[in-house]
Amino acid sequence: MPLLSEQIRERIRAEFPKYPDKRAVTLPALHIVHDELRSVPVAAIEEIAELLEIHPAEIHDTMSFYQFFREEDQPLGKRRVWVCRSISCMLRGGEELYAELAHKWNIHAGQTTADGRVSLEYAECLGACEGAPCILVNDECHTNMTPESVTDLIEK
Ligand code: FES
Repeated sequence: MPLLSEQIRERIRAEFPKYPDKRAVTLPALHIVHDELRSVPVAAIEEIAELLEIHPAEIHDTMSFYQFFREEDQPLGKRRVWVCRSISCMLRGGEELYAELAHKWNIHAGQTTADGRVSLEYAECLGACEGAPCILVNDECHTNMTPESVTDLIEK
């Protein structure tokens, strides 16, 4: 039985017309699978390669180059929280924000809570320095954050 649902396959196929060839859909396909499955298992790499008509090693090379995608033994939590540690955020409490979140969730950057709710990451400048300290929750940027406002956001 295939790992990738027909819905995921359709989302990947929908990318084909946007790119010059199927190989160029490697990154979008990895993002689609990663978003849905919260990791990119080996079986998914093989199925993506089949869809794109390239060797699975090419998918794996792209995946490992970016260091963004989780393998199946370290899946992401439901929310991926990136705390910016670049200069503006650092000067406005980003390090303390990170430390409080890590303490509260009992994890460090790159880890996921035992209940699978949250994964914590470090981010470099998110391009919203005027609202430092900033975090990304999945794909959304949030500014002027405090440990309390992060907790509220996650619990919503
Ligand atoms: Fe954090 Fe720029 S330094 S958003």
